[in-house]
Amino acid sequence: MTQTPLLRVRNLAKAFGGTRAVDHVNFELPAGRVQALIGPNGAGKTTLFNLLTGHLRADSGSVIFREKEILGLPPHAVWRRGISRTFQVPAIFENLTLLENVQVALRSHERRLLRPLPLAQAPTRAAELVAAVQLCEPLQAPAYSLAYGNRKRLELAIALANEPALLLLDEPTAGLAPSERARLMQLVHTIATRQSITILFTEHDMDVVFEQAHYVFVMHQGSLIEQGTPEEVRANRRVQEVYLGEAESGSV
Ligand SMILES: Nc1ncnc2c1ncn2[C@@H]1O[C@H](COP(=O)(O)OP(=O)(O)O)[C@@H](O)[C@H]1O
Ligand SMILES: [Mg+2]
Repeated sequence: MTQTPLLRVRNLAKAFGGTRAVDHVNFELPAGRVQALIGPNGAGKTTLFNLLTGHLRADSGSVIFREKEILGLPPHAVWRRGISRTFQVPAIFENLTLLENVQVALRSHERRLLRPLPLAQAPTRAAELVAAVQLCEPLQAPAYSLAYGNRKRLELAIALANEPALLLLDEPTAGLAPSERARLMQLVHTIATRQSITILFTEHDMDVVFEQAHYVFVMHQGSLIEQGTPEEVRANRRVQEVYLGEAESGSV
């Protein structure tokens, strides 16, 4: 018996003028895997995420999530259906505290479930989420005071407050030191496994990709050119050429 995929994308397309940023892409995500989306700068990864989450309007295509069409829904509606995301540049409320940032996300999630947490419990749940992402800063610290790596962790806690079925992470480790990258993605992997969250993440650090992903999609010039296990993708000639070409043009 084949399992119904969590997400099914068909002929998804978006052009900016003459640039085919996402060029009739087809793929499926089964539930419960950690999957990477890789490809050189400008391949269309962020645009693809923006189409999936309603941050951009597609030119055509279909996105079926949990067996329902979500293309055309605004971002908050996609979030409510159970897709959380983080951004290449962390999106947090600068002037709120750590705790308040997570509480805002929790409140929005609880409203959706029509079972608001008792007020006394809300800070506890928010504090648990902050602890779960191993963010070891005072809960009352303003978000603007956080170092870059901790901002990424806070954004992750906000995404998890939504109890997503699918979590899209756009370059979650960009700007972090290599050792911190591996640690953050290990944490994401552990949380995803424990909470049965399906992950799709973009990443430039191939060590992180090959260590953490069960399955890898490769995007180039708006198209998905290959997919497979990390071993299959690493051994693939076409993928090697795409990355080699990028290295030769000096854009890595
Ligand atoms: N808002 C936009 N307006 C015009 N062109 C864009 C816009 N966003 C992305 N692009 C173009 O679409 C292509 C894909 O970009 P992007 O999705 O950001 O790639 P990636 O995330 O893989 O680096 C690039 O050629 C980029 O210049
Ligand atoms: Mg990008």
